[in-house]
Order: sequence, then structure tokens, then C-alpha cells
Amino acid sequence: MEKIEKDVAKDYWENQAKTHKGSHLASWSDNFMIELEIDAVGEHISSGDHVLDIGCANGYSAFQQLERHKDVGSITGVDFAENMIKQANMLKKAQWIGDIIKFEVGDINSLQFPDDTFDVAYATRVVTLMSTWEEQQIAINECLRVVKPGGKVIFSEPFLEPFTLLNAMRQLKDMPPLIEHDSNRFFKKAVLEEFFTQKGLTFKVNDFSSIYYLGSRFLRELVTDPAAYPGFNPINRIFFDIEKDFSGGGFGIQQAYIVTK
Ligand SMILES: C[S@@+](CC[C@H](N)C(=O)[O-])C[C@H]1O[C@@H](n2cnc3c(N)ncnc32)[C@H](O)[C@@H]1O
Repeated sequence: MEKIEKDVAKDYWENQAKTHKGSHLASWSDNFMIELEIDAVGEHISSGDHVLDIGCANGYSAFQQLERHKDVGSITGVDFAENMIKQANMLKKAQWIGDIIKFEVGDINSLQFPDDTFDVAYATRVVTLMSTWEEQQIAINECLRVVKPGGKVIFSEPFLEPFTLLNAMRQLKDMPPLIEHDSNRFFKKAVLEEFFTQKGLTFKVNDFSSIYYLGSRFLRELVTDPAAYPGFNPINRIFFDIEKDFSGGGFGIQQAYIVTK
């Protein structure tokens, strides 16, 4: 990423932290998606694990993981935005949480940890912020480097294929296309899978938001006028509840790849 572009991106996230403080809004307004993503990551955290959250923002998800996995070995969050880390550390102090969780400034492209340090690492909506596939590969390699052999790295990122599928369906119903921020950076499934396969890595895919995306980005607009619900549309909750019982179908723009090192 060019230095100027990286500085602009960093300024954006620094301001998000200042504006939204400890709220999930600092990273995404769709709290149902964040909940589903936390569940998808949390499935791979076990008792005693040392966990790294890469691009942790204000620590919203890391705190949730600690809440759900009280017997975890440790959780370390890193983010390149100093204000995010400042916010996370303020929240930690306010909750009187000890060193089981810690937050440090760090860049996904050159993490400050030795090889083979963590049992589990996860990056949720961070790698595809890198400008090109070449830069994304550097970030992926860095996440893999810091995990122990046999450990897991979870990448939860947006994918081009479900995005295209949903937009094709929307076009059939004369709906405007979904405009996702920087969709040209979205992962392509075939390319990502080839990358892991070439490295001899095994992976599993969790299409953890398919029903939710189908409902909240397509079906909802067939039955309601989006203008009538400028903020929260209650139909989202219905599909969130269904998603918790049934996943899959290939509509989830956001999917998780669980890679075993
Ligand atoms: C979309 S938010 C996702 C935050 C969090 N992972 C979550 O699940 O809510 C992206 C985060 O990645 C951070 N980020 C962007 N580029 C980064 C980099 N090169 N190294 C570390 N963090 C980065 C941003 O500061 C921001 O907090």
C-alpha cells in the first residue's frame, strides 16, 4: 500500500475510534453480523489457548471472546490505529481486567511477535483492507507466521462471489446494486483456496452469514420499503435468529476461512 494511501486509511480508523469510542460502531454498524462473526471465531478457541486478534479495533470482539472463554490462556489484540488501542486499554482498565487480555499497537504486515507464538490467531475484516492481492498475501503470511504448527488462523473477510450473486438477484428484481466499500479488494474464493493449497495448508470454510445476508440484503427489500426503516430494520433480527440455527447457501458476503498451520 502506498504510504499516502496507508496514512489516509489510518486517519480514518483513528477517527472512528475517537467518534465511536468503545462501541461496535467503530468497526461496523451491523451488530448482528459482528455477533455472528464472534460466534464463528469463538468456535475455535479452547481452554488455555493463547489467542491473537489482529486488527482488533477498540477490542469490542476481544472482550466478547474473553467473556465467552473465561478459561482462555490469554488474548492479545493489535491494531495499527493508536486511538483504537488507547480505547481498548481504557475499557480494560474500567472493567478491572488483568493481563489475561492486552492490547498493543501493531501492523498486520510486520507483527512484533516471534514465529510460532499463538495457538489461534484471527483477523476479521482486516486483510481485505490491504490494497492488492500481493499485499493481502503478505498480511496472510504474517498471520500464519506467528501461529504454532498445528494452530489455527481464522480469516473472516468479504468475498466477491456471494457479492456478485446477491447483486445479480437484486438486478432481477430491479433493486439498486449493493455498494460495498472497496469491493475490488474482496477475496476471490478460488484464488485464496489455491494460495492455501499451494502452501500445503488445510482449511475449512464457514459460510456463517449466508441466511442473514440473503434476508438483510435481498428478501427484506422485497417486502418492506427500505426508506421506511432508515436505521434498524426489524426484519434483520428474524434472519439473524434463523442464521443461528441454520447456515449455508453461499449468500454470505462475509465468510470465515479456518486454516490449520
Ligand atoms: C473493519 S475494522 C475490523 C475491526 C475488528 N477486527 C472487528 O472485527 O470488529 C478494521 C480494523 O483493522 C485495523 N487495521 C487496518 N489496517 C491495519 C494494519 N495494517 N495493521 C493492523 N490493523 C489494521 C483498523 O484500524 C481497524 O481497527
